[in-house]
Amino acid sequence: MASASASSPSLYSLLLISLLILASHFHASEAQARPPIVKGLSWTFYQSNCPNLETIVRNHLRNVFKVDIGQAPGLLGCDGSVLLNGTASNPGEKETRPNQTLRPEALKTIEVLRALIQQQCGRVVSCADITALAARDAVFLTGGPDFPVPLGRRDSLTFNVTETSNLPSPFSNTTVVLRQMGAKKFDATDVVALSGGHTFGRAHCGTFFRRVSPVQDPTIDQTLANNLRAICPNASSPNTADLDLRTPNLFDNKYYVDLLNRQGLFTSDQDLFTDPRTKPIVQSFALNQTLFFEKFANAMIKMSQLSVLTGNQGEIRSKCSVTNSKSLITSTVVEEVGEIAQF
Ligand code: HEM
Repeated sequence: MASASASSPSLYSLLLISLLILASHFHASEAQARPPIVKGLSWTFYQSNCPNLETIVRNHLRNVFKVDIGQAPGLLGCDGSVLLNGTASNPGEKETRPNQTLRPEALKTIEVLRALIQQQCGRVVSCADITALAARDAVFLTGGPDFPVPLGRRDSLTFNVTETSNLPSPFSNTTVVLRQMGAKKFDATDVVALSGGHTFGRAHCGTFFRRVSPVQDPTIDQTLANNLRAICPNASSPNTADLDLRTPNLFDNKYYVDLLNRQGLFTSDQDLFTDPRTKPIVQSFALNQTLFFEKFANAMIKMSQLSVLTGNQGEIRSKCSVTNSKSLITSTVVEEVGEIAQF
């Protein structure tokens, strides 16, 4: 008896220690649980043939953002619209409708990154992968989470101009957004987290003007509505408004605080706080930035794998804005013109 009662406390403490170890293990693995990656992509794809890839991208972008912070949302917006557009393998596509508002400086930066990488590693890294890494670093370097990007995408041989009709519009309500994003396997948490991409950057008058004129949307804050009318004389004005009025250049959770205060810019943003399916998620992200960062990172990993080409599909472009066959035609024409000019 005596020996049993003497050994009990140590047994309890052993049990307690084991439980603590177990709990901390589950906590750690839960924090690291990432969405599955599609066949053909990997976390270490360029380890042998371009080991410095991620350092090249991060260091270059750090310098770019010092001069022009607007390029950070430009690069994330570029990735978001290209991916949701179903054109992940068309990172340079600029002609189709939703991409018309992409910042030209951000597209130039992708081209500079491509040249820098090509200089060090040869033509081995796709423009689609460079765009995905640039989007991740745009988030991280402005205060957001760091997260791994699965790599190994290939660039498309053509420019895809279909699938644009399934894209959510800034005028859509949550029912439409959830349906369209649901078709791409995103749940309500993914949708609310990805919308948090609107925590920095700007939008043109045409994307929100109808919320303030001729009839004002009852869900918009009065001061914001007045300010937006002052910025935009009409829908076709080329002016822009900040997507997040609190911290327009930071990647943080203030976008959700905006929504709580009826200060979201688009209907597709503000309605997330009206719809009972998404309202609690908005509230939880407004209260807990760590939770938002975790859900955003996972949703980005999911989004970055939409309609990707891998393996022997597609190509590695030598210039991101054109396919190799087109760039061959262009360079041949230029050479010919050059030759003609010599005579
Ligand atoms: C419901 C889906 C979405 C809709 C309806 C939507 C709509 C828009 C619109 C209309 C603009 C303004 C474009 C302009 O006028 O220049 C914009 C900008 C932006 N979007 Fe989205 N978007 C969606 C999802 C996303 C996602 C998933 C991300 C990234 C995770 C994202 C990140 C951005 C960023 C960063 C900008 C600012 C771009 C800049 O400042 O150049 N959006 N979005």
